[in-house]
Amino acid sequence: MTNTAQATNPIPHWQTLWLNVNLATMTNGGDNYGEICDAALAISDGKIAWLGKQADLPSYHKSDVEVIDGQGRWLTPGLIDCHTHLVYGGNRANEFEMRLQGKSYQEIAEAGGGIVSTVKATREASAAELLKSALPRLTALHQQGVTTIEIKSGYGLDLDNEVKMLTVAGELAEQLPVTVKRTFLGAHALPVEYKDNSDGYIKLVCDEMIPVIAEQKLADTVDVFCENIGFDLAQTERVFTAAKQHGLAIKAHAEQLSNLGGTELAAKYQALSSDHIEFLSAAGIKAMSAANMTAVLLPGAFYFLRETQLPPVELLRKHGVAMAIATDANPGSSPICSIQLMLNMACTLFRLTPSEALAGVTCNAAKALGLSKTKGQLSVGFDADIALWNISQPAELCYQFGVNPLSALIQNGQQVI
Ligand code: NIG
Ligand code: FE
Repeated sequence: MTNTAQATNPIPHWQTLWLNVNLATMTNGGDNYGEICDAALAISDGKIAWLGKQADLPSYHKSDVEVIDGQGRWLTPGLIDCHTHLVYGGNRANEFEMRLQGKSYQEIAEAGGGIVSTVKATREASAAELLKSALPRLTALHQQGVTTIEIKSGYGLDLDNEVKMLTVAGELAEQLPVTVKRTFLGAHALPVEYKDNSDGYIKLVCDEMIPVIAEQKLADTVDVFCENIGFDLAQTERVFTAAKQHGLAIKAHAEQLSNLGGTELAAKYQALSSDHIEFLSAAGIKAMSAANMTAVLLPGAFYFLRETQLPPVELLRKHGVAMAIATDANPGSSPICSIQLMLNMACTLFRLTPSEALAGVTCNAAKALGLSKTKGQLSVGFDADIALWNISQPAELCYQFGVNPLSALIQNGQQVI
């Protein structure tokens, strides 16, 4: 090689080189997994430095690189759970029993149970207790390949308790090697002290909570539960306006139990995503497509609430709306901390293809969190958050449930499992 060639194309120093692997890169929206078989992947400074067919591997400095034989296993991006309520006090097993005796989720909520009962338990819990109870849930997700998680507040419903929840969510990232993205969901339910004064509560959310959350950088996104048992369109719009004024991104819980038009409103405010959306209309889908929003589908809540209205997957596909999948891990509608079960349910319940389901917890989940330039794909320059699976084809990740095929997990270039 000439000196000139070396100057323009220096021989790289890599920290880790995986040989003999297959890659589900999840590039191009995850079409056919972005498959590259008989591949190699190199990591440097916590980023993906090279990937491709092993036969095309360029020369590299051999002295300082750790070479790992992947034994024909599959690498995917580290999984991303883009919608959770992982931090909360108590549990709602009693309401599960009530529902089995015939009461609906709405009836329980209207009778003072539901989210409000978790608010009571969360307010009573200390930060240390909340951390202790959330840790096994995060551990369960991490052991299934999750390297990034979104965690919402929304069970505090006053400034101190919302700050407590978001602080605990941040502390979880110090306990486990998982990237935590925090969302402020003050407009989740009406706290008892604001009974019959929902506008007064929204004023508190907009004028007192959002400014503090933004100033203290406790969250970078604001979510609203836009629903008959949540907040109406006018209230949702006030929260979105306040979020924008403070430079925060927005997303919505919308069209979960009825069609209020929260998704169209979210699109008007360039939201990252609209989540649940079983009752979304064709107009809502077009609005999402025009605003380049992500549809976050939550099969765990659909299953656990025994919902019968399916999200409009075929129309979302037709309009090219990216679909993400998440656990919605929470004590009421989805007490489920298994991203692998979500992969299975996205296919069995919502009829996604396995490739679409995997895109839902990688590239499209990154998009739903505004992280699509750094996470959710195996691409050069992306964060080296990578899962190694003991499988012979990627569809196995969706097909079999209950046996964990994860054989290694890398976060920011470091092997953490
Ligand atoms: O995503 N829909 C509103 N919020 C949660 C449920 C929270 C709860 O029931 O505690 C959800 O389903
Ligand atoms: Fe949720």
